[in-house]
Amino acid sequence: MEAARFSIGTKEKPPMIDFEQEWRRQMINERPPSTPERWNARARKDASSFGPGTSYSDAFLDRAQLLAGETILDMGCGAGSLAIPAAERGHRVLACDFSEVMLEHLEQQLSEGTRPLVATHRLAWEDDWDAVGIGPNAVDVAFSSRSIATPDLAGALTKLTRVARRKVCLTISPGPLPRAFSALFLDLGLEVPRNQDAALVLGALLARGQKPSVGYIESPRIERFASFDEAVETYRAMIDMAVDPPVGEDRKRVERELVRWLESHLMHEGAPADEDPDTKATAKERPYWVDVPRSFDWMFISWETGN
Ligand SMILES: C[S@@+](CC[C@H](N)C(=O)[O-])C[C@H]1O[C@@H](n2cnc3c(N)ncnc32)[C@H](O)[C@@H]1O
Repeated sequence: MEAARFSIGTKEKPPMIDFEQEWRRQMINERPPSTPERWNARARKDASSFGPGTSYSDAFLDRAQLLAGETILDMGCGAGSLAIPAAERGHRVLACDFSEVMLEHLEQQLSEGTRPLVATHRLAWEDDWDAVGIGPNAVDVAFSSRSIATPDLAGALTKLTRVARRKVCLTISPGPLPRAFSALFLDLGLEVPRNQDAALVLGALLARGQKPSVGYIESPRIERFASFDEAVETYRAMIDMAVDPPVGEDRKRVERELVRWLESHLMHEGAPADEDPDTKATAKERPYWVDVPRSFDWMFISWETGN
């Protein structure tokens, strides 16, 4: 095997990691392809997760430290989670996405004040951006929020860096996958599935000679349910997402532990707020809540483009 040739203590150097190539390999081999159809379906089901009004939007824009009047390209803008609040802060935004249903949702949310500031454009990472007039220094700042869903990381980083006169800001999963409830997995002895997306993006940027700054956006969320049984079913299905999910007797034991865990952590009275600002679920619709917040961090990476 190739890797076995390089053992600790020898002077032989292993080859440098090609982060962009490794990203391509993982995207093609380990992820379902990111297609407009898939994201259109997602938008029809749950556009509000990618729309304005969540604590994530404000945290991203605060970290971006935009200067007054700066123009923005928001690539993979979804239903306007950043484009709309950025326009509310007085910025002109070119909001781009390859999902027309996401763009329709975004447009429906524009107000009299924000409509003149936001232009939408159907655009894919893979398209020729110059051909549609998005060329060098087209904007001051480029955003990619949770949206680098293409095997061509090299192309995406090149395009973002080229179109932004001052800087690029992006967010990406730092490792643990958001679909697993980390605190619950830890208590049940399950291993949280992880990806290497942030490590690969940082590696690729450093290899290009960029000087990325890194921070985190924390999104703690209170999980709410209509009933005890709904909570059990939701988390029982989640067990399958663990690395090496338990089977047979082990699985039965973990499921029993899950029920005990919920008996201690699923509350019925005194939800922290009547309405969840992120999911909009109300205490009336979902009176059961978990007293351990489901926390997920996004890594916020920015770099000056030097253009
Ligand atoms: C997780 S959502 C993020 C939306 C928004 N930026 C946010 O943070 O709320 C990912 C977005 O990227 C878009 N997207 C995924 N792959 C894309 C591609 N290859 N080209 C253009 N947009 C893409 C999807 O349509 C979706 O709107």
